[in-house]
Amino acid sequence: DMSAEEQAFQARIDAGVKIEAKDWMPDAYRKTLVRQISQHAHSEIVGQLPEGNWVTRAPTLKRKSILLAKIQDEAGHGLYLYGAAETLGVSRDELLEALHAGKAKYSSIFNYPTLSWADMGAIGWLVDGSAIINQIPLCRCSYGPYARAMVRVCKEESFHARQGYDIMLKLAQGTPEQKAMAQDALDRWWWPSLMMFGPSDAESVNSAQSSKWRIKLFSNDELRQRMVDQTVPQAEFLGLTIPDPDLRWNEERGQYDFGDIDWTEFQDVLKGNGPCNRERLRTRVTAWEDGAWFREALVAHADKQAAKQTA
Ligand code: ACO
Repeated sequence: DMSAEEQAFQARIDAGVKIEAKDWMPDAYRKTLVRQISQHAHSEIVGQLPEGNWVTRAPTLKRKSILLAKIQDEAGHGLYLYGAAETLGVSRDELLEALHAGKAKYSSIFNYPTLSWADMGAIGWLVDGSAIINQIPLCRCSYGPYARAMVRVCKEESFHARQGYDIMLKLAQGTPEQKAMAQDALDRWWWPSLMMFGPSDAESVNSAQSSKWRIKLFSNDELRQRMVDQTVPQAEFLGLTIPDPDLRWNEERGQYDFGDIDWTEFQDVLKGNGPCNRERLRTRVTAWEDGAWFREALVAHADKQAAKQTA
């Protein structure tokens, strides 16, 4: 049963009114947003690591500067998102502590290794491509600070996806070895990219409530289908094969049918047992520890400035 306050809140959501930081909101709405926005922020931050692995080995100066710019964008996305989460009354330190303690989730996709340069192409094309499909609707979600942060994030993600597709195109049109490298990257990143959208609708515990609150405008399966339908023609243009023998156009549905996702693998990655979970977490914790002197210096500087003011 909803209280009068909750009913009024739901009525504002239903009317398409944006909820702002200082508005009254049910505790559970606040909690859901902190959960989703902080997971999203952590994903952006941890998401820098697989690509960071290739900065020193980019094939040309141009590719290297594009990759660097893209990775810096991801850091920026993480910061806007921590900022959006802070409007809900949590501190960035608390959120980072949860990440470093291994208690907070971040996207499963960033627990896979980047084995070749073609992985930079596949990540931009498939991972950032999926991120856009998931995040465009979030620009219209009910929580104002989250929705507004997503506008710029989506613009930047679309540049990321194009740079990835451009890498794939170059490799696919290159030597047979280069084309094989692109195919191998597609083979490894395809299924994990489909898992980014989360469990099937039947298994998605948060979907019903999040949809009611207009945090979710489309279901996990709807967005996953959109990703498949959008990506198959792009793979065809590259002359690459999607690693799914069950993939075929369904004339009646006007959509592609595709094979079953290995949900055991997904659950394993969520439990911390993916190929790179431990390495990713260790890298973040080390970065945090190595930055202690800098945070201390910032505080010492701020204290000095404050003392000067009162003197
Ligand atoms: N990786 C890790 N955890 C996941 C993933 C995934 N790919 N998909 C779902 N989960 C988690 C959920 O966070 C949830 O865990 P929790 O209840 O402990 O928090 C659980 O699995 C069950 O899933 P759902 O009930 O479907 O969860 P939810 O309604 O939050 O939907 C989704 C998941 C679609 C990822 C949603 O949170 C979302 O849209 N988030 C914003 C986008 C985002 O975080 N993108 C990150 C990757 S993109 C990038 O950074 C480049």
